[in-house]
Amino acid sequence: LSDGPLKGKRIVVTSGPTHEPIDPVRYIANRSSGAQGTAIARALASLGAQVVFVTGPADVPPPEGVEVVRVQSARDMRAAVLAALPADAAVMAAAVADWRVASESKSKIKKTKGALPVLEFEENPDILAEVSQMVHGRPGLVVGFAAETDDVIAHATAKRARKGCDWIVANDVSPETGIMGGTENAVHLISDAGSEDWPRMGKQAVADRLADRIAAALS
Ligand code: C5P
Repeated sequence: LSDGPLKGKRIVVTSGPTHEPIDPVRYIANRSSGAQGTAIARALASLGAQVVFVTGPADVPPPEGVEVVRVQSARDMRAAVLAALPADAAVMAAAVADWRVASESKSKIKKTKGALPVLEFEENPDILAEVSQMVHGRPGLVVGFAAETDDVIAHATAKRARKGCDWIVANDVSPETGIMGGTENAVHLISDAGSEDWPRMGKQAVADRLADRIAAALS
């Protein structure tokens, strides 16, 4: 285990998409590679933190030196996060599906000519809001993410208040930015002190800078 400013600190990181089953062979999900969440877990571990990495089915492998908890659905992710608490901090970088299919079919839905399946949805639990609003055992620092396509800072500031988290890392994912699925990110760190604009840099550099800030906040 590495020595560093986060030695002795336990941090839960969520990452990747969630998969919400329709039937045993089909699902709905958000697009997410898991690259930014993985980079954050790596950065925190390299500063000495004990990281519990709760990940949906991501495209990139988990980092070395973290405890990996693999999940599929938002409900699984919620249970894994709550089981990992108490923690000093929680960083919720997962792209959780907002809805799940209300009645998952236990057998494969058959293709029937002229009869289209109709899916009904239910709301998934909001893990970030729940952890942010815990009355007992809330992590001292809760960080959420906001991917927006317009009025990034205004929307992210409203999201921070609505969810009750301490920080929001906000980024502009408009198609012209090339950030979605790319290697770089340009983010704003929203806190009670307002909004800080970080220059465009690699996703690992964003993660390293965020980990430094988390270390400073927890020290
Ligand atoms: O509401 P929205 O999905 O835009 O919020 C994004 C933030 O909330 C991210 O930090 C994401 O990980 C978290 N989130 C969550 N559970 C949900 C939806 C989002 O933890 N069901």
